[in-house]
Amino acid sequence: MSPVDVVRTVPELRRKVAGWHAAGEGVALVPTMGALHEGHLQLVRIGHRRAKRCVVSIFVNPTQFAPHEDFNRYPRDEAADLSKLALVGCDLVWAPDKDDMYPDGFATRVVPAGAAEGLETDFRPDFFGGVATVCTKLFQQVGADFAVFGEKDYQQLCVIRQTVRDLDLPLDIVAAATVRESDGLAMSSRNRYLSTEERGAAPMVHRVIADIAMAAGKGSAEAAIAEGRQKLEAAGFRIDYLEVRDAETLKAPQPWRAKRVLVAAWLGKTRLIDNVAA
Ligand code: PAF
Repeated sequence: MSPVDVVRTVPELRRKVAGWHAAGEGVALVPTMGALHEGHLQLVRIGHRRAKRCVVSIFVNPTQFAPHEDFNRYPRDEAADLSKLALVGCDLVWAPDKDDMYPDGFATRVVPAGAAEGLETDFRPDFFGGVATVCTKLFQQVGADFAVFGEKDYQQLCVIRQTVRDLDLPLDIVAAATVRESDGLAMSSRNRYLSTEERGAAPMVHRVIADIAMAAGKGSAEAAIAEGRQKLEAAGFRIDYLEVRDAETLKAPQPWRAKRVLVAAWLGKTRLIDNVAA
């Protein structure tokens, strides 16, 4: 198994990617904050289906964390990440330093509205500004033909699609289905914060949204949402939101359009988010 090539400066990154493009090879990008799990590795496999080369960025982006959030304790283990990436044939890891990404004097921010309004933004008002800013930079730095995002962060996926569309960024966004544990819990780097007891309760989030999706498919989800709220609260969850929305705009659902059930709920100190098609 050959070690993965890691680059830490933009000129070196651009040189490598330009070489691939000159050879007629397509390039996919998988943006991550590290702490990689099977869900991320699946994004790399999907990138490789579309393009000969796959770049994975690893950057814990400070601008998407509020001061009270988990930036400092967010899990970081580059050596473990690189070993996992070598196994799935990642061609290059882009791992910039914070000061290279945001040098002194950095003062520009991409502020998305539209799909960014409501849901996460009601609880994390600056989150999507940070995500859209860093992703726009990553797209410009790497120059990939595709970027692959997981549906696990569904609102993020919608916001990124909108940013790419609105700013005419020259790449395609590819969505990848959520990878779940055998009991239904969506894989997430933050699942490692869960205690054993919390880990036992966590799959209820997926069961509840699957029930709501079924009810929404039959006509009305209101009773299922009320029942789902009760179940989660009785099991000790604190719900930020549990809603059915339009699958594309994330506005109120329309009877003739595809819908999505989205949830964010705290279990102890861990915030779980998940979603399914309805
Ligand atoms: O989903 C994530 O891990 C992050 O929000 C992303 C897209 C890498 C931007 O920092």
